[in-house]
Amino acid sequence: MPTEIAVIPGDGIGREVTPAAVSVLKATGPEFEFVDGKAGDRVATETGAALPSETYDLAAEADATLFGAAGETAADVILPLREAVGSFVNVRPARAYPGVDSVRPETDLVFLRENTEGVYSGHESRLSGDLSTLTRVVTTSASERLAEFACEYVDEGEYEGFHVAHKANVMRETDGRFRDAVIGVADDRGVDCEEVLMDAFATRVCLEPDEFAVVVCPNLAGDVLSDLAAGLVGGLGMLPSANVGPDRALFEPVHGSAPDIAGEGVANPAAAIFSAAMLLEYLGHDEEGGAVREAMKTVLSEGPRTPDLGGDASTDDVTEAVVSRLD
Ligand code: NAI
Ligand code: MG
Repeated sequence: MPTEIAVIPGDGIGREVTPAAVSVLKATGPEFEFVDGKAGDRVATETGAALPSETYDLAAEADATLFGAAGETAADVILPLREAVGSFVNVRPARAYPGVDSVRPETDLVFLRENTEGVYSGHESRLSGDLSTLTRVVTTSASERLAEFACEYVDEGEYEGFHVAHKANVMRETDGRFRDAVIGVADDRGVDCEEVLMDAFATRVCLEPDEFAVVVCPNLAGDVLSDLAAGLVGGLGMLPSANVGPDRALFEPVHGSAPDIAGEGVANPAAAIFSAAMLLEYLGHDEEGGAVREAMKTVLSEGPRTPDLGGDASTDDVTEAVVSRLD
């Protein structure tokens, strides 16, 4: 049976960069069956549900999922989709590539973001006309599961260790629990783990990004700090991500639907194509994943490039250049 890949383009430039990533996957060799799913603003307008149950089931059953982006309905789409694949960690590499004008060309980081709790667990209340509250959820079990993943990631990637970013000096109970759980697992496994306060990290990563390699973060911090790192390496069009669960995973560019450029055919497909490379590696096609990464890297260095990277090429021009390097 061929490996089944759910393809959920979503809205805006998700509908432009996801087909680009699929073209690249088709050019790599392994036999995949691509099954399309609908999600996002459009389908919400048509049917009232931003994530139809068929699409949820598709992601829950496929071997891997490729997602583009949703617009206004993003939270109603991506949070349940991450749940559909049982994802507990969001892997977000932020790497500078030659040929891309980067604020910090030495940047080569991977954020491992907790993907189920923190302030994104959905416990918000309006208590009065003046007062709204939010409950921040942190469990030892989810923090330890993330730390186990981080230790394996460090071992496999032959890193020296990892940093854990937190704010346990203020959020003593929740981030204290997170920090203690992560450090406890690292100590048990003999992996070097250094703590860093997340606000100080924000400054240090801008000034000396090469001081960091693997950074474990609570949910919101990982979201914000990885977007910050995108700014160091040429913008949001560059960052891929993987939402990994015990048996399945969903791959998506970090960026959103970019309504300001949607429909113009000029979205940078690099983030989606690097996400496809991560998908290949996740499915055990390491050689093909590496080939996609190398082809994309060469195109970034030699062109053609999209306008966000200072070029005047279209999404299709870049995709064709990547595909032609794979043939
Ligand atoms: P955004 O990532 O869509 O765009 C931010 C800026 O980066 C824009 O100027 C955009 O043109 C540029 N940009 C992003 N990706 C690009 C690419 N591949 N090539 C060239 N330029 C690119 O974030 P924004 O503007 O905050 O949100 C727009 C919509 O996307 C909102 O409705 C938001 O809810 C949604 N969103 C969805 C996400 C998801 O589905 N995972 C994540 C973030 C935002
Ligand atoms: Mg974000």
